Order: sequence, then structure tokens, then C-alpha cells
Amino acid sequence: GEGLPFSAGADIHEFGTPRAVAAPHLRELLLRLQQLNKPVIAALSGVALGGGLELALACGYRISEPTACFGLPEIKLGLIPGAGGTQRLPRMIGAQAALDMMISGQMINARRALELGLVDGLSNSAQSLLHEACAFAHQLLESAAPAFPDPQWGFPGRGLPDDFFSQYRLTQQARWQGQLAPQSVVTALEAACTLPLTDGLALEAELFKTLEASSQSAALRHVFFAERDVGKLPGISPDTPTRLIRKVAIIGAGTMGGGIAMCFANAGIPVALLELKPQALEHGLTQIRHLYQISVERGKLTPAQLEQRMELLHGTLDYAEIGDADLVIEAVFESLPVKQQVFRTLDEVCKPGAILASNTSTLDINAIASVTRRPRDVIGLHFFSPASVMRLLEVVRGRDTGADTLATMLAIAKRLGKVAVVSGVCFGFIGNRMLEPYSREAHRLLLEGASVAQIDRVLTDLGMAMGVLAMHDLAGIDVSYLIRESRRDLIAHDLSYCRIADVLFEQGRYGQKTARGFYLYEGRKRHEDCELISLAEGIAHELGIVRREISDEEVHDRCLFMLINEGIQLLDEGIAQRSGDIDLVWINGYGFAAWRGGPLHYAESLGLAH
Ligand code: NAI
Repeated sequence: GEGLPFSAGADIHEFGTPRAVAAPHLRELLLRLQQLNKPVIAALSGVALGGGLELALACGYRISEPTACFGLPEIKLGLIPGAGGTQRLPRMIGAQAALDMMISGQMINARRALELGLVDGLSNSAQSLLHEACAFAHQLLESAAPAFPDPQWGFPGRGLPDDFFSQYRLTQQARWQGQLAPQSVVTALEAACTLPLTDGLALEAELFKTLEASSQSAALRHVFFAERDVGKLPGISPDTPTRLIRKVAIIGAGTMGGGIAMCFANAGIPVALLELKPQALEHGLTQIRHLYQISVERGKLTPAQLEQRMELLHGTLDYAEIGDADLVIEAVFESLPVKQQVFRTLDEVCKPGAILASNTSTLDINAIASVTRRPRDVIGLHFFSPASVMRLLEVVRGRDTGADTLATMLAIAKRLGKVAVVSGVCFGFIGNRMLEPYSREAHRLLLEGASVAQIDRVLTDLGMAMGVLAMHDLAGIDVSYLIRESRRDLIAHDLSYCRIADVLFEQGRYGQKTARGFYLYEGRKRHEDCELISLAEGIAHELGIVRREISDEEVHDRCLFMLINEGIQLLDEGIAQRSGDIDLVWINGYGFAAWRGGPLHYAESLGLAH
């Protein structure tokens, strides 16, 4: 792999097909490699991942160039290493370090690999790797080194308490929510600590086979390919011209404006933040510093990095100062007239060719673009809260959005480390439009007799990061109320429509921010509120809804099938390009379990009859 990756591992297309088990199989090949009586040195450049790292592990020696990275990312595809990785890695670096690598699926760098004993040495540079590996071979020959030195960790579980694995399982169970791959990692690792290598390898092979055939791995592989396809769009090709983005301006330094500014500062791009009033600006900038400070306290950022990022941020009250921005993102209140006024001003002050984006979560991008003389340059960039953390970016392509505008934003999303999913224009785009019927059904179920805790439990049991009602408490009951206000004419005929959330709003129960919403809060801990049941009973009585016992199955079907049907509707309308795009939105923006593959992959797994 001179000048290239050593190996990025298996071809993921082969998993789940006969090719994955066809001879020669890597597992057997590596066993033959281990029967050689000559020392074999893996000279590692670029990356050695998955099967690539397993190949290196089956060699007697490893030498790496200083910028190489190593990892066993199989868990991200719902698998475990299947060619000896779970048995050879712990013998080389110890069970604890091997567990960390296999459970996280994250890469480690060459320096860390040297510390752990995963590699025997580092070359001075990538260029000198082969030369130094050859010199190392001479050294081994001169010292009559064995083909395989004794492993550093003859007993991989050395130093671990006797109940280490059972305790680990106990503490992680809730987080795993029935996911098979992490459980199998632990089982395989336990085998590495207790069984001879051949028995451990046999067990690993069995576990791998089961996982490869599992619906969880199929779902995660679907997500992997969905991420590869997401950038494929009609009218956009690698040759589509893009514009240079050197300077960004953000209008509104509230929750979203501040978070979006951090995304750009994190990527090293200077940002001007514009507010109406000095207090709001001051508050916004202080909030950003506060959030960075938390990262410093958690050891994720150095104090120097904090200052570097703050230096990239510049506050202003004057539109004249943002005239030279290449990209302007508006994040003011969710109101069409307010946003249109901002865009009129931007049209006046921004240089020709600047891209004008709105972070609206529901409003019509075409109606926003129409107040400017440059609708080609207008686009929706819907970030999710907290913007500097959430991976999803919905990019809303307006009727007149130029191909170069869109291509530029897709490139920017990549620089920010976001998964960009393109949506057409409609109420709520992909994510929030689907959230609407999903939430509506949950609200109705409350009136009909389900409890808040029951509804959320059914959804979290399915693997959602959060139940829909807890999510509304987090996002703010006031926020969803204002969205309903903007479309009362469309929903007024249905008296039961989110009635319970409207009453909560009237009572000032906005959710976590007021410590009361669907739940009661003490700090971040939530409790059920018996008052909510009497509230639901009262409204049900008023509306003539007969309350009854509701089964978990009914909660599941009504919430999930509404979500799924709306997704299919979005495909029919051409708002979403592919079902995989919809799955990515729900996995990365709304906490749908990746190992279920997202709502539409999940629908496939249930079958059309459902
Ligand atoms: P926010 O209320 O925290 O911030 C809005 C900020 O805009 C305030 O600081 C306000 O002073 C400023 N502002 C208002 N009018 C302005 C004007 N004409 N010129 C300059 N600044 C102005 O609101 P938030 O939550 O940040 O939302 C902003 C936008 O982001 C909305 O369109 C919202 O729908 C959207 N959004 C919100 C999400 C959320 O979870 N909060 C998620 C995704 C999008």
C-alpha cells in the first residue's frame, strides 16, 4: 500500500452475500499465515481497518508510518471482527484496550498504537516506511528472532476483576437496547480471556455468522450505503461549479445562530454574528464562550483552542459590516414576515454571488426567496439543535435555487462534518413534516387513554433515543405551539388536534425550560405527572372521546405507521429523493435507532401487509 492505505478492510457490498463466505476466506488465510516459520512484517501506511488490521495482527511484527490510523469499526455495521481480530487484538494490547477499540469502533493513531504495543515501531516518515521495515527485517534476522514473539498479553484479562465482564454487561445493557453486536464483542473478548486461541477463533466465527445474517447488521449496512448515496442529486455532478466560502455571516445570535456560528468557527471559517440589540449580541457571544468553556472542562478543547475559535467570531449590529460575506445564514424568529424583511435587507447589502440561506424549520423557502432579486442564491440550511453537535443538516432546495448554490452548500456541509440531506420545499421539509403526524398521533393517544410514560416507553423500546413527548418537552411546548399558530386555518376543524399541548402552553408548561411540560422535571430528571392524566380526562370528556385501555402495540402502530406513511408521501411528492435520505434524517436528527435502519427501512422489515 505504498502511498496508499494498507487496507480499509472488507468490501461491504459482499456482506450478506455468498461472496462473503467464498474461499479463500480471510480467516483461513490468516491461519496459514500464522503457520509460516519465517517472520512476516506488516508495514502499515495510511489506514489499517477491519479485515486490514486483522491481517496485520496475524503477522509476527508490525511497523507503521507516523500518520497511520488503526481501527476495528465492524460494530458500526452491526458486526464483530470475523477474521481473528477479537482474539488476536486482546492478546496484543490487553482486554481492556481491545474492548475500547472494538466497542467504540473508533480509530487510534500511530502514536497510541505504539504505546499499546499494537505496533513494534514507527518509521520516521511515510516515505521511509518500506526502507525502515526492510532494515527491521535485517535486525530480526541478525537476532534470530522467532516468527512470532510471545504475545505481550499471554493472559489478556490480566489485572481485570473476576466479575469484569458481568459488571460491564450490567452497566451497558440499557444503552445497548438489545443490540447484538456490542454483546457479541463482549462474549468474544471474554472467550479471548478464558479459551485457547483456536477455540476463541471458532466462537468468533459463530458469532460473526449470526451477526452477518441479522436484521440489525442489514439495517446498519443500509445506513452506510444511504450515507454514500445522499449526495447524488439530479442536476448536480462533480463538475458542478462551486463558490468559494471564506467568510460567513449569521443573522440572529440566539440558540441556533450561536450554534451555527460555532460549527463554522470549529471548521476554522471566520463568522460575523449580527443582532438587532447590543444586549442580545452580548448574550449570544457569552453563551458561545460558555459552551466552549464546558468543552474545555471536559478536556475536549484546550484553552488555546477556545481562544482561537472565539477570535474567529465577530459580533456586529451593522449590516454594512457583512456586505462582503460569501454566505449569510439567517436564524431569526420563525416568522415569515420577519424573515422576509431580513432577506430584503440582505438583498440590498450583500455582494453579488453571496449565498443567502435561511435556517427556518418549517417556512416556505420560495416565499423567502421571492422578496430578493436573486432567488438563485437563496437556499434553506436547516440545522438541528444543538447545531454544533447534531450531525444532520437538511438542505432545502427552492424552486429557483441554483445548482452551484446547492453544490457549494453540500461541500460546506462536508467541511462542517455534517450529513447533508436535500429536501424539496414543503411544510417542515422532511424531518419536521414527518414529526407532525407522529406527534399528532401521540397527543391523540393521550386523550384516548394511553399515558405519557407508556407512549414514550414503547418508542424508546423500539430504539428511539427519546420518546416523542419527552422530545417535545426538550424542544419546547411553546415552539411547537407557535408552529401550530402559523397554520391554525389548516387544523382548526379538528378539535382534538394537539389540544393537550395547546392547554399545556396556555398553562405556561413549556417543557424542560419551565420544569413542567408533559413531565415534571427536577434538573434533568423527569417524573410522571398525575395532573396530566386528569387534564387528558377533562379534554377527552369535553370532546366526547371515550377513554379506554390502549395496548403497546396500538401505540407502536399508530405512531410509527403515521411516521412511515408520511415518509412515503414525501417520496411520492418528490420532496425526498430516496427512502435512504429519509432514514438518514430520522437517524441523525431525531434519534431513530440506526440499527433499525431508519423509519422506511424499518417499514420494509415489517412488510407491506402491515
Ligand atoms: P431564538 O429566539 O433563540 O433566536 C433568535 C434570535 O434572532 C434572537 O437572538 C433575536 O434577538 C434575533 N433576531 C430576531 N429578529 C432579528 C432581526 N430582524 N435581525 C437580527 N436578529 C434578529 O430562536 P432559535 O431557536 O435560535 O430559532 C431561530 C430559527 O432557527 C427559527 O427560524 C427556528 O425555527 C429555527 N430552528 C430552531 C431550532 C431549535 O431547536 N430551536 C432547530 C432548527 C431551526
